[in-house]
Amino acid sequence: MSFSNSVLQLEMEKAFEYLDKAREVASRGVDVISFGIGQPDTPTPEHIREAAKKALDEGFTGYVSPPGIPELREAIANYISEFTGAGDIKPEEVIVTPGGKGAIFMAIASYISPGDEVIVQDPGFPAYECTVRYAGGKPVFIPLKEEEGFRLTPEAVQEHITPKTKMIILNNPHNPTGSMCTKQDIQGILEIAKENGIIVLSDEIYDHFIYEGQFHSVLEDPDWRDYILYLNGFSKTYSMTGWRLGYIITNAKAIERLTVFAVNNFSCVTSFAQKAAVVALTGPQDFFKEVLAEYRRRRDFTVEAFNSLPGVRVLKAPATFYLFPNVKEILEQTGMTTEQFSLKMLEEKGVVMPPGVPSFPLKAGEGYVRVSYVQPIERIKQGVERLRQGIEELLEKA
Ligand SMILES: Cc1ncc(COP(=O)(O)O)c(C=O)c1O
Repeated sequence: MSFSNSVLQLEMEKAFEYLDKAREVASRGVDVISFGIGQPDTPTPEHIREAAKKALDEGFTGYVSPPGIPELREAIANYISEFTGAGDIKPEEVIVTPGGKGAIFMAIASYISPGDEVIVQDPGFPAYECTVRYAGGKPVFIPLKEEEGFRLTPEAVQEHITPKTKMIILNNPHNPTGSMCTKQDIQGILEIAKENGIIVLSDEIYDHFIYEGQFHSVLEDPDWRDYILYLNGFSKTYSMTGWRLGYIITNAKAIERLTVFAVNNFSCVTSFAQKAAVVALTGPQDFFKEVLAEYRRRRDFTVEAFNSLPGVRVLKAPATFYLFPNVKEILEQTGMTTEQFSLKMLEEKGVVMPPGVPSFPLKAGEGYVRVSYVQPIERIKQGVERLRQGIEELLEKA
């Protein structure tokens, strides 16, 4: 029973493997502090949960329309029209998917053929590059530089395009660095894409977690229907990671084709979860103000605390709930790889911090770890103190 070549291109997400390792360490009685998890620690707001319960009780449990229930497509069209300033998105320009990940897979599998080149940020969310390889495409990595705030710049994109470039995958704001592109970056990248007939797959799932500066969506370009696949989801903003709800916005003709993909892949997204998603978008949004204020406090605290650790420096990332601290000095002094350092901190201090390499999944993350600050400040403080001890011990021995 041999696997297909395509499926062998897919790899486990290392961040999930770290969670398994953390569980194993915890099973030995260690109180594990995790900076590894990419999901908000707040529960799904009550009014959203209630909507799902109501839908279940009313028997809304059958198959539904493959591209999504009409009221959800409409709610997404209206919400994103206003949020991004696009203004006139129509329900038939939206398809609901099983999570943001489902949208990534659908978008790449639908547009990439063997030999196509796809520009991918390095470091980056691992699903992009292995799904490109799954489709027979070639990921072309652009290293993000700490000195540029880990932004993807038009200059770097220009240097990496070739006649074979079919798609640019832009994750903005960015996992794992917390960076955010400027308006000029976005405009420059979109200009290059338009001039060269390149599709832009824009993953904006962290668009609400902004602490400094102004977020700009690719949907601000009035020509978006010609070349953009916009991707978003409910996991992060509404704390709905387990609900598996995402979506793609693009022109209506493309949505028809993506619907054929959906029918053959998952038929439709969970019916009662979609009812809850309508309420997420049309119901009160104030709960997020508190969430954002709390994350800002956590970010400020975490940045300062990590910068006080020996051999560690970290940028004050303007967005998401991630930081990407540079630990190169520790590695130089101890001769360890990033992964060995991460494992040592987990095994000996019970602190989870996925290493930049191989978690995200290429080369540019070597010498960095990802820190997710989705836990109370008290807990972050404990984690940092354990790291301080661990690093001091390592440096003493070096
Ligand atoms: C950049 C990015 N895109 C997409 C996703 C997937 O989100 P979902 O839970 O909706 O599949 C994540 C989750 O961590 C992410 O970081």
